[in-house]
Amino acid sequence: MVCLGNICRSPLAEGILSSKLILRSIFVDSAGTGAYHIGHQPDERSIVVAKNYGIDISKQRARKFQVTDFDIFDIIYVMDENNLQDILSLTRNNHDKQKVKMILNEIHPNKNKSVPDPYYGGNQEFENVFKMLDEACEIISKNIKK
Ligand code: 4NP
Repeated sequence: MVCLGNICRSPLAEGILSSKLILRSIFVDSAGTGAYHIGHQPDERSIVVAKNYGIDISKQRARKFQVTDFDIFDIIYVMDENNLQDILSLTRNNHDKQKVKMILNEIHPNKNKSVPDPYYGGNQEFENVFKMLDEACEIISKNIKK
């Protein structure tokens, strides 16, 4: 799960998908394309909205996406168009490229819709982000094979 800061959207996506894949041997992680928040806890507003739905994301720490992540992960979900361009620019070959997907395409195939960045918003924006990620992760968890 990839966003810009790895403190608002992708920690929620990691927490939500992990909660739906419990008891399955699938490794879910998140990262940011930017380095501003490396080592930080998720944004308090993401922690609170997740907690309201019974998910604890407080132990996550932000990290920056690494090219080696293409070797570790089978699917790389990005939150928005900027993340998509940033991650595509790091791909080394077609195999890497095929792993990169926009997460809302799970709900709206081929529409390339973005999960809005809630950083400058309020609790309602975080709630909306949670709901769209929950819907996407529900579909992912049902379709994922392994
Ligand atoms: P995220 O949100 O990409 O969902 O983690 C942001 C977090 C921090 C900043 C921007 C977006 N920032 O500019 O510091």
